[in-house]
Amino acid sequence: MKIKPYKRFYAVLLAVLLCLGGCRTSQATTQTVQQVKIGLTLYQQDDTFISSLQGYLESAAKAREAQDNIKISLNICDANGNQSIQNDQVERFISQGCDVICVNEVDRTAASVIIDKAKAADIPIVFFNREPVEEDMQRWKQVYYVGSRPREAGILQADIVAELYRKNPELVDRNQDGRLQYVMLEGEPGHQDAAVRTEYAIKELGWQGIEAEKLANEIANWQRSQAFAKVVQWIEKFGDSIEVVFSNNDDMALGAIDAYQSLGIEDWPIIVGIDATPPALEALRQGTLAGTVFNDARGQGQAIFELAYALATDRDVQQAVPELEGQYVWKSHTGITLKTLEQQESSS
Ligand code: BGC
Repeated sequence: MKIKPYKRFYAVLLAVLLCLGGCRTSQATTQTVQQVKIGLTLYQQDDTFISSLQGYLESAAKAREAQDNIKISLNICDANGNQSIQNDQVERFISQGCDVICVNEVDRTAASVIIDKAKAADIPIVFFNREPVEEDMQRWKQVYYVGSRPREAGILQADIVAELYRKNPELVDRNQDGRLQYVMLEGEPGHQDAAVRTEYAIKELGWQGIEAEKLANEIANWQRSQAFAKVVQWIEKFGDSIEVVFSNNDDMALGAIDAYQSLGIEDWPIIVGIDATPPALEALRQGTLAGTVFNDARGQGQAIFELAYALATDRDVQQAVPELEGQYVWKSHTGITLKTLEQQESSS
């Protein structure tokens, strides 16, 4: 029977905890301790949403470490948008004897390579945020996914627009033609959150009986600067005809706001994002962002950690993460406007 590395006792010296190839190991000690080793690779560490999720995951590990009196070594690597770098990082986690590997995939359609390697070494994997295709998830029972449902995010985003429109039709439908002319800022091609959020935001407007007319859509890869450039071009092309700017995430919505601000335009269309990152909530307070959808970075970070920890220590995963449905953990979204934000803040 294979003995899990965490069950062995390590004399861990600071000197042997190497920081290799963009990776950072967050725990070191000179004492003899019981230790769990978790490998974590991120598609792009400077992504706003991902770095906030990483922070919550690290806090969950620290809290558990204190509570269970165990050393938790988190080896965090940035794949820097490169799938082959990420594959190498996973290989290194395997050779370092990690008990579990957490993967935020660069290319979500390329999970089979990683799954097969981990399966051969009998090391469970927790994917997150970038959902592997179902066929890959079925390759092995010890593969899990933690994320949020993009369909729900798209619907809630459209609900914010629908509510603002119903309350103030003349303000939103600027040309008073009974239809909403919109532009759509999309995340990365092939990312489930880009395609599905886009699709359901527009479907939901239709289900709400609101006619929508697309002026343009563009990929801005989740990035504020790319969104800024696209929106500047759209403003030049469509001017006041833009009535709604849908954005698949908050960073790109902030890029749209940057565009209007930098051109000195005062009368804006409705701009809506997804994630509820701190800078987006600030924009909501300032009235530059009309709404966002809370994407639970904390809940996801905690669930990834608890699942990984249970797998690494051979505990019952269902007990560790009660929301686990088969191989999946889904964290739900909530729509946020200035009004709901103020209500939340006054009640907490
Ligand atoms: C988030 C984006 C983030 C992307 C990274 C999405 O779920 O909404 O902000 O850039 O994940 O994969």
